[in-house]
Amino acid sequence: MDRLSLWKDRIEDRLRELLVPQQPQELFEAMAYYLFQPGKRVRPLLTVAVASSLGGDEEDAITVGCAIEMIHNYSLIHDDLPAMDNDDFRRGLPSCHRKFGEAMAVLAGDALLTYAFELMSKEGVFRTLSPEEVVKLINTIAVKSGIGGMVGGQALDIGGEENLEEVNLKKTAALFEACFISGGIVSHRGDLFKELEEVGREFGLLFQLVDDILDRDGFYDLLGEERSMLKAEELYRSLTHRAGVLFEERSQEIKNLIDMVYNRVT
Ligand code: IPE
Ligand code: IPE
Ligand code: MG
Repeated sequence: MDRLSLWKDRIEDRLRELLVPQQPQELFEAMAYYLFQPGKRVRPLLTVAVASSLGGDEEDAITVGCAIEMIHNYSLIHDDLPAMDNDDFRRGLPSCHRKFGEAMAVLAGDALLTYAFELMSKEGVFRTLSPEEVVKLINTIAVKSGIGGMVGGQALDIGGEENLEEVNLKKTAALFEACFISGGIVSHRGDLFKELEEVGREFGLLFQLVDDILDRDGFYDLLGEERSMLKAEELYRSLTHRAGVLFEERSQEIKNLIDMVYNRVT
């Protein structure tokens, strides 16, 4: 089995260890509903791939990746609500609010977000990080998820912001920046944060552009098929090059993840 498949299995197991059945049962079921569906797990995989390539502890990276995956799934639950994108389906199944009702879906999102920070701040959860590194990790993920990042981007999107690049940088790329920086924190590589953030940003922009092309909205609407595909190819080439420079001979899994995203539209 290749390393990405092995990591994916370990991420699936760890998610189930971290979020165990608890009361109130309906809230737990609504939290577990998206989280335990077979998503692509791109964010935790990137976190582990970055940490692994920089010599960080894979177990700690899996824990951080799972926390980020919880935040991602909370954002999807809220994104699907009638007040936002009003989507009845996700991943081919009824959306969270269609299955559990709107109130429970709002609460499940709230609880997943809070739970991510609960688990990262729990004593003893990381085996190789200093208390200062744990604080840096939590702060980075909070900043990239909140008003300056994902939630801010969703607000711009809802408000009809016309600068799509600005919207995508915040609503999608910010959480990918968090994955790359977190991989760096787990590897004790404070010197690389800026470069990791930049590669994460480019990864996020490619990811959202591909999502737009597949959904025929966003940039696809704005640029049309040919120009959005050209833009994706440009981003793909630049990203592959940058990942090669930053991670050198240990860039294979990161490059495979970049290919996995780009190949969805080629
Ligand atoms: C979908 O994310 C939302 C976007 C930011 C475009 P993913 O495509 O990563 O969703 P899953 O978790 O794999 O279903
Ligand atoms: C979702 O963006 C972004 C976040 C949840 C932060 P989209 O609305 O474009 O993604 P899908 O198409 O619902 O997955
Ligand atoms: Mg949506």
